[in-house]
Amino acid sequence: MAVLVTGGMGYIGSHTVVKLLEDNKEVIIVDNLVNSKEEVLNHIETITLIRPLFIQGDIRDEKLLEKIFSHHLINSVIHFAGLKAVGESVDEPIKYYDNNIVGTLILLKVMKKYKCRKMVFSSSATVYGNNSNVPFEESYPLSTTNPYGATKHMIEDILRDVYKSDKEWSIALLRYFNPIGAHESGLIGEDPNDIPNNLLPYVAKVATGELACLSVFGDDYDTPDGTGVRDYIHVDDLASGHLKALGYIDGTTGIEAFNLGTGNGYSVLDIVRAFEKASKKTIKYKVVNRREGDIPICYANANKAKQLLNWQAYKNINQMCEDAWRFASNKSNHKE
Ligand code: NAD
Ligand code: UD1
Repeated sequence: MAVLVTGGMGYIGSHTVVKLLEDNKEVIIVDNLVNSKEEVLNHIETITLIRPLFIQGDIRDEKLLEKIFSHHLINSVIHFAGLKAVGESVDEPIKYYDNNIVGTLILLKVMKKYKCRKMVFSSSATVYGNNSNVPFEESYPLSTTNPYGATKHMIEDILRDVYKSDKEWSIALLRYFNPIGAHESGLIGEDPNDIPNNLLPYVAKVATGELACLSVFGDDYDTPDGTGVRDYIHVDDLASGHLKALGYIDGTTGIEAFNLGTGNGYSVLDIVRAFEKASKKTIKYKVVNRREGDIPICYANANKAKQLLNWQAYKNINQMCEDAWRFASNKSNHKE
């Protein structure tokens, strides 16, 4: 029985595929490479000595999904495939609703047809909206502030309705906090093609010299040093959470949301200092205005994942920055 990993060539997907292969799972990846590169497959093979089956294609291609499900015995799906840039989703909402919502609906339709009723879904802490009542608990009311976030909220609702209609389904909604870091080999990590929107990839490019200076978005928040506080989690810990969730949904039916975070908050300046330590480089920064839509503080209460999934994050902020730096400096050297 195989696990179908949609978006398995991407940042979090590739780390999860490594964990699945190391756990002797049969893995099939479907990814259209809209935000990833085919070379990731070679890196997965170098790390695990296994080359998983990779099918290049779009999850909105119903015929392709039909073909995959009719040719393989698929027990469960880990559904990463989606577009994730908040700013772009504001400019191009139709593209985001089409890719994320339509893609998920077609996937669910084919899963239902082939009686595959187990899914781990990549949700996000963005579903807590503007709430600043930390730590965030799964029971909090959900709201969103941009089309990207709305797709995550809507897909959670769709999956809750799917379960209500057929109690044989078993679904884990994993609400990631801020994934950073890279595989310890330095071979896979987050590698945005454009100028990064997120803090860590931006800091990494300042350290490699590809970008000149970090803009710190506001230092007048009601936080210890005035800069925004987030729950950064190592992508390797996050990937382990998917294995635990897969084990959990295998033995039960129902739908549950889980926060995957460390439960700790770090400020932008904490990250700058940790990255300077890891890279032995000076990170040049200047403080600019707040970024619209940012909340001051966000971190998880991750007790539910600990209790029900027997999962917790182990890696600290220094390890996250060291691994992110190893990957970024490898990439940068290869570009020269
Ligand atoms: P990513 O962009 O690196 O990976 C997503 C993968 O999905 C890419 O390889 C892309 O090519 C593929 N893809 C996108 N649309 C597709 C489609 N229609 N058909 C087939 N493949 C498609 O992103 P990531 O950081 O690995 O995120 C994975 C998931 O987790 C996404 O759903 C994202 O929204 C969610 N998430 C990410 C973060 C984060 O900070 N990285 C936080 C919360 C939630
Ligand atoms: C962003 C998304 C969120 C998504 C999350 C996933 C936005 C508004 N929100 O969250 O929906 O779920 O990624 O990881 O994009 N910062 C700077 N300078 C920069 C970049 C960021 O100071 O150049 C600050 C931000 O103000 C924030 C912190 O760094 O305080 C983290 O920012 P970022 O990495 O973009 O993540 P989030 O905003 O938490």
